[in-house]
Amino acid sequence: MSFRIEELQSAYLRYKTFMSRNPRGHHERFIFPFFAGSYFSYRKVDVLRVVVIANSISSNPKYVDVGCGYGDFLFQIRQFIPNAIGIEQDGSIFYIFHKPKPAFIYSSYEDWYNLGPFDLSFIGWMQPGVDFRESVSGITKCVITTFDAGGQCGIMGGCEYEEFGFQKLAWWRTPSWIDVNYELMNSFYTSPLKSDEKKMNFLAGLRSAHNFWYVYTKPEIADRVRECLRDWVMKEKEEGIHFKQRFGFESVLDECGFHYMETLESLSSRGNQLWQVEFD
Ligand SMILES: C[S@@+](CC[C@H](N)C(=O)[O-])C[C@H]1O[C@@H](n2cnc3c(N)ncnc32)[C@H](O)[C@@H]1O
Repeated sequence: MSFRIEELQSAYLRYKTFMSRNPRGHHERFIFPFFAGSYFSYRKVDVLRVVVIANSISSNPKYVDVGCGYGDFLFQIRQFIPNAIGIEQDGSIFYIFHKPKPAFIYSSYEDWYNLGPFDLSFIGWMQPGVDFRESVSGITKCVITTFDAGGQCGIMGGCEYEEFGFQKLAWWRTPSWIDVNYELMNSFYTSPLKSDEKKMNFLAGLRSAHNFWYVYTKPEIADRVRECLRDWVMKEKEEGIHFKQRFGFESVLDECGFHYMETLESLSSRGNQLWQVEFD
């Protein structure tokens, strides 16, 4: 864990103060992601895509979320894969804040290895420099990793799995909490800016989205998983699944201009459309 206990406690006090002021709905998710949300800003369609991928590997998939924190994303996955588990190396985060530690979140490498092998290992936002690709690769058939181009992987750790015998099948782009946080700060928490429409429009044009979701599998299941995801993505669009199935907090993403399939002008060509799945 890269945060010290005192840092976490101080952040938690600020979080409590923020909440006592009755903030607008769901803002806390994107201002205090560790306590109230996730470091990646997902929608229900992301959860459903991950579930479709897991189910394409097995009818009863073994799923692990590595570095799951308090388990915000894992809780959503468990609505569909009830046996999904999480690994969070720092079990003390639960005890410090008197949160019950769910039985399906484990804290040791030993648990991780004993509970594997897994059909799908999900690796949400991980601190720069943390690199357990080799360990993950040995006990999983599929890796879905979200990485933040603004600060994670590529620096000391890594997010690519080709060198560990995996094939990259597909990827899509979403905002990270920090992208949403900037928009919230500009629109709601920086009063001089709010009255300056020109400045607000200028800043909106700079809007970016740094979070990439990469799907890797072992070669022997690559074709099957790719086809299932392709079929699902077609269904997602044709049946308007995004409009039918949403989390309440998605309204904040819309409000901040990070709509489903929004094209961000500040990004260069391929992959500049949010949530658009690109196949490799
Ligand atoms: C930035 S948080 C992300 C939490 C969650 N995945 C999310 O996106 O909101 C990274 C978490 O990974 C945990 N972590 C770091 N290295 C780990 C490891 N080797 N095994 C398990 N968890 C680890 C940290 O303790 C921390 O809670």
